[in-house]
Amino acid sequence: MCAMRWTRNFARVSAVFMLAVAAVCVAPAAHSQVNASSLVAKLHTSRTSPSDLEVSGDLAGVGPGETRFLTREDLLGVSQAMTIKPGDGNYTVPAHVKAVPLEDLTTALGVPAGDMVIAICKDEYRAHYSRAYLAAHHPALVMELNGRALSDWPKDDEGNDPGPYEIAHENFKPAFMILAARDEPQIPWGVVRLEFRDEESVVGAIAPHGTHASGEAVQDGFKIAQQNCFRCHNSGAEGGLKSGVTWTVLAAMAANSPDFFAEYVRDPQAKNPKTQMAASPEYDDATMRALITYFQLFAPREAH
Ligand code: HEC
Repeated sequence: MCAMRWTRNFARVSAVFMLAVAAVCVAPAAHSQVNASSLVAKLHTSRTSPSDLEVSGDLAGVGPGETRFLTREDLLGVSQAMTIKPGDGNYTVPAHVKAVPLEDLTTALGVPAGDMVIAICKDEYRAHYSRAYLAAHHPALVMELNGRALSDWPKDDEGNDPGPYEIAHENFKPAFMILAARDEPQIPWGVVRLEFRDEESVVGAIAPHGTHASGEAVQDGFKIAQQNCFRCHNSGAEGGLKSGVTWTVLAAMAANSPDFFAEYVRDPQAKNPKTQMAASPEYDDATMRALITYFQLFAPREAH
């Protein structure tokens, strides 16, 4: 659901729609501040509607493992009018949305400064927003596009709409390049849940360990895997469950069949016509070597 296909259809549909309404769009209102106390007071202990956003993790006054809910109206009440430029890959023309910056949500919900934000989708895809990413790109949770709830937008061939929430950036500019891997906008749709979690412990689940951990290739591979693979592949309780293929399985492949591994990453469709994995054809040999060197560290001992 959070893979690319719907977004492509959506871009086409919305381009037509937005060109039609462009003439009547007014300038966005000045940014309002999210009122912290009002949002904490609105946390519901149980779901009231399918469009509710689940929230969990380090929230002020909420116990570990507990979940709370915010309604779409609660979120609209603290939202801002924003114009999303096409650079983040969500839309093909500037889009007028109502959205709440994730950083404002962390403040409004009393989340500790060392926490990251994890957006979880209907299909268990996960987008991980580190503190560095939040500061560089200011991602925002979108609840309305051109005056319509996201769930009211047209469905794709598989019956998926982009609702209840998606994440967009007003003006995304890549902040880094690691070998051939460019800093990528994290733009999930079908977002149903946000988790606010200690960044060190989440990322720690895939941090390299052992005597080769500090090597340059390993560190490069780690950063690439953190932004790309971790969305759909899990290591224990952390990372996306969309693929059902764990870090340990990927590691065994990197150790035993590095060529297959590289071919799969560059062009999964060539190996699996029904693949749901995003291709990374731009990863050159050095980039692939970094990823493989990194993943090999997680291989079961007998594979070495
Ligand atoms: C959008 C989700 C997504 C992302 C991102 C993703 N994968 Fe996958 N991956 C999958 C899914 C789903 C499968 C299961 C088969 C399929 O659909 O291709 C898979 C399968 C694989 C396989 C083959 C496993 C097998 O059993 O044959 C490899 C290798 C792999 N992924 C490596 C990676 C690496 C390395 C990265 C990061 C550079 C990555 N994937 C990023 C979704 C993803």
